[in-house]
Amino acid sequence: MRSLVVPPPLLVQLAMAAAANIALAGCESKCGDVDVPYPFGTRYGCHRTGFKVTCDRAYQPPRLFLQSDGPEVLAISVRNSTVRIRATAWSVAAGNARDVRVRILPAKLRPYVLSAARNSFVLVGCGFQAAAQTPSRQGAATFGSCAPSCPADEQLKLRRGACHGVGCCESPIPTGLKSFRIRFSWQEQNATARPPWVTPGASVLTVEQEWWRDRDNVFAVKMSLLSSGNAAGLVIPAVLDWTLNKSSCAAAAKRSDFGCVSKNSECLNSTSSAYGYVCRCNDGYDGNPYVSDGCQGPQRHVGSDSRFVGPGK
Ligand SMILES: *[C@@H]1O[C@H](CO)[C@@H](O)[C@H](O)[C@H]1NC(C)=O
Ligand SMILES: *[C@@H]1O[C@H](CO)[C@@H](O)[C@H](O)[C@H]1NC(C)=O
Ligand SMILES: *[C@@H]1O[C@H](CO)[C@@H](O)[C@H](O)[C@H]1NC(C)=O
Ligand SMILES: *[C@@H]1O[C@H](CO)[C@@H](O)[C@H](O)[C@H]1NC(C)=O
Repeated sequence: MRSLVVPPPLLVQLAMAAAANIALAGCESKCGDVDVPYPFGTRYGCHRTGFKVTCDRAYQPPRLFLQSDGPEVLAISVRNSTVRIRATAWSVAAGNARDVRVRILPAKLRPYVLSAARNSFVLVGCGFQAAAQTPSRQGAATFGSCAPSCPADEQLKLRRGACHGVGCCESPIPTGLKSFRIRFSWQEQNATARPPWVTPGASVLTVEQEWWRDRDNVFAVKMSLLSSGNAAGLVIPAVLDWTLNKSSCAAAAKRSDFGCVSKNSECLNSTSSAYGYVCRCNDGYDGNPYVSDGCQGPQRHVGSDSRFVGPGK
């Protein structure tokens, strides 16, 4: 039988050749709508250790996942050294659990930690008091204590309000968080004024602050979790920080696996929640510092008479 494989049209090939490389040669650089820049890659030889991602084409459009069974990837930012993932909301039934352990990321997802600067810790529900703690090896510091209420005469706040104590509360998270425990103290059901549509129980999640500033998103999450304890139908984002290696630039630059390989790139000791080094294109250059010739530019420099250049406005 003859093969029915048709080569892509020449124009497409030319367009691909003209774009700056974001992946290694011969490697997938896109999964559905999501760009896959190196150090990430879907195949052996296409990614750095720890940066494997899986493109699942059973979905239409295809979806990207960290490693093979990690969280879904919504976007990868080389510039910010972040991955935006689809967050999970953990539900806890009322009354039973008093000490719940939550692992936000599988232990094997080594290069990633939850960004303390870009996420909030959120509790949804009512009729309990809760205190979240870092694991004991991280000092067992308490970072989120709250006791949200659902007063029947505050229905509007419960539905439309911000996450400020009525059916919902939020707090910052500490740096380097991968797992935590929550201690619950459940109030007697009858002591909790709760409209009939609110199910007893608690939901715990970490969420991207920027997304959470939009009141419509808060509304959708609160309504879903309060009424059913389930938000599986919603795409709730959270942001992870990553670094190439857990070493400083000075130490990394001496090694053969030093990652800042593009011309016009530099190494930075990470100042995010993840310890280690990352690479940046120099000012005026743009692209991927982790692949050779990945940093493109400079932007055409316009001199003193720049006001006369470019499209008129
Ligand atoms: C840096 O990370 C690579 C894999 O990403 C690993 O093979 C190497 O041993 C690490 N180097 C150091 C100094 O940790
Ligand atoms: C990069 O970080 C900035 C500042 O936190 C944020 O506003 C922006 O959306 C981020 N961009 C991407 C692509 O993640
Ligand atoms: C809760 O209230 C209902 C009626 O409002 C009552 O029948 C029930 O005994 C109460 N339960 C407790 C534990 O007080
Ligand atoms: C990174 O940190 C190390 C010490 O940990 C320091 O010696 C080095 O100068 C820093 N490099 C940069 C590029 O900031």
